[in-house]
Amino acid sequence: MEEVGSADCCFGQSKGWVGKTTTAVNIAAALATKGYKVLLVDIDPKECRNAFAWPEVGAYEETIYQVLKGDVLLHHASAQFQLSRLTLLPANITLSGAEAEFLSAVGRERLLAISSQPSRV
Ligand SMILES: Nc1ncnc2c1ncn2[C@@H]1O[C@H](COP(=O)(O)OP(=O)(O)OP(=O)(O)O)[C@@H](O)[C@H]1O
Ligand SMILES: [Mg+2]
Repeated sequence: MEEVGSADCCFGQSKGWVGKTTTAVNIAAALATKGYKVLLVDIDPKECRNAFAWPEVGAYEETIYQVLKGDVLLHHASAQFQLSRLTLLPANITLSGAEAEFLSAVGRERLLAISSQPSRV
């Protein structure tokens, strides 16, 4: 496959139950099937992991929340959830307080971008 660099894609909508998770999961899986390396970042405390029917790997504590806090490196948090070219950075209920917690953090809108920089991955 030709080298094409990387691209970011975000699926978001304030309205609920409109197919955001379904769309994100299916596009991630389709891109991985096409040969692309895909990192699917779940940023919903409700967890999209179930939408994958991802194999059970037991309890996990390292999620997008710890990555945003800077407590865990991105590749540690996603290492448990790799299926061939598709990797999931999971979320769970711990993310629910993050919006309030990071409200006064300087540059909070850049936390995800910073945590996924190659030098930190
Ligand atoms: N194209 C589609 N056609 C029919 N049903 C769909 C389609 N896409 C998603 N659904 C169904 O709609 C429901 C909501 O989908 P999904 O969970 O992806 O939405 P969501 O926007 O992520 O919801 P939430 O706001 O709760 O996170 C699910 O039952 C899903 O199977
Ligand atoms: Mg969803």
